[in-house]
Amino acid sequence: ALVMACGSSSSEPTSSAPPPDPLALTPVVDENPDPRIVEFRLEAREAEKQFGSIPVTRVWTYNGTIPGPLVDANVGDRLIVHFKNSLPEPTTVHWHGIRLPAAMDGTLAMQSPIPPGGEFRYEFVLKDAGLFWFHPHVRTDVQIEKGLAGVIRVRGTDEPVVDDERIIVLDDVRLKDDGSFPTYLDDTSKMMGREGNTLLVNGVANATIPVRAGATTRWRILNVANGRFFNLTIPGVPLWVIGTDGGFYGEPRDVDHVLVAPAERYDVVFQVPANAGGELELRNDPYERGHESGLRPPMTVAKVQIDTAAPVTNAAPLPRPVQHITRLPDGPVDTPIVLNEATSPSGEILFTINDAVYPNVPPIMVDNGAIRVLEVKNASEMDHPFHLHGFFFQILAKDGVPTSAGDLVDKDTVVVPMMSTLKLVARFDEPGMWMYHCHINEHSEGGMMGEIHVE
Ligand code: C2O
Ligand code: CU
Repeated sequence: ALVMACGSSSSEPTSSAPPPDPLALTPVVDENPDPRIVEFRLEAREAEKQFGSIPVTRVWTYNGTIPGPLVDANVGDRLIVHFKNSLPEPTTVHWHGIRLPAAMDGTLAMQSPIPPGGEFRYEFVLKDAGLFWFHPHVRTDVQIEKGLAGVIRVRGTDEPVVDDERIIVLDDVRLKDDGSFPTYLDDTSKMMGREGNTLLVNGVANATIPVRAGATTRWRILNVANGRFFNLTIPGVPLWVIGTDGGFYGEPRDVDHVLVAPAERYDVVFQVPANAGGELELRNDPYERGHESGLRPPMTVAKVQIDTAAPVTNAAPLPRPVQHITRLPDGPVDTPIVLNEATSPSGEILFTINDAVYPNVPPIMVDNGAIRVLEVKNASEMDHPFHLHGFFFQILAKDGVPTSAGDLVDKDTVVVPMMSTLKLVARFDEPGMWMYHCHINEHSEGGMMGEIHVE
């Protein structure tokens, strides 16, 4: 498709030309005239980027930008990606949350790493609407931290009607005063995942997010940070959570905080006040995910600037989106997955699954087409965001308490709180070797990863 929705906002009024948006994501250049195909070049390469007022940082990027480019597509479209690795080390591209053939999933179980200078063609059909992302599946603790993450927005046929929509990519980077990335990890980062000293919204430090007074606004939020959880609030503004990773909730929820763990997405709608003094705050409030992380003070993620010049007077009502999933049946748990931490004989922190470290975790074997119930037990003193490749799962129960019908949703990443157990169900209907792991990148690289073999 050559004609693409531009920038990150699709429902902007056409009457007045809005000023350039510093938070706009750069769209990929679609080279294919077929409207049902999105075909583009994607290059992983070094670039320079200025974060705030510190000296320029040497970063790793897709097509030169942080975050990487935005892929906008419609459900059913085919994606063709001509990928080139211009990094000084091997990489792959993993398409987080997308249901695709295993050979296209970008994991080392299914693909050999693309060497420096190497190329690879990824091609698959986008079966589901939602907000997805792509990132390397090699040395993720380093490669994602250095900037390799891009966004895929797949529109469904019945998207909720709102006045404004924006993609919010949350990240943080840990930078030294000279702008460089530290080459070692301190013990806290090894334990909790690297948390940055610079918060980013769409790659921008100290960001200001513009909103229109009175507008019913949909923010599609994605957290690409290595380890930071964002416990988001906009003080004084009720948030209406309509969806998450792979779809909409049965019943939208009215909340004042949305917890977005690494790799999760949340679809949040709110009404911008018509007359609130011009400015709101997007704030990250304390959340205890282990080791007294909840004792830290709140942090401003971004200012939210209300544009009162052209208030929306006839705002769209809060949407009740259409949910497309069918509830999968409960059943016996055949393979418990126990997440834990351990110390190696040499004193290193290890992150384990069933007391083993990847690749020594025995694979879970599943017949193609089978529906399986997995129990994920977190035996450690910290939360782990559990991610399954290739398939959505539904959360059947948490600590024995069944999920209510309104909370049922398709997820690919979920927080398993410390000392808690989640019961998940998925239909494994695509053959191949699929990864599951904690999405704190220091944890997956530290061993908390396993494979599911569907055959
Ligand atoms: Cu974002 Cu293996 O995943
Ligand atoms: Cu973890």
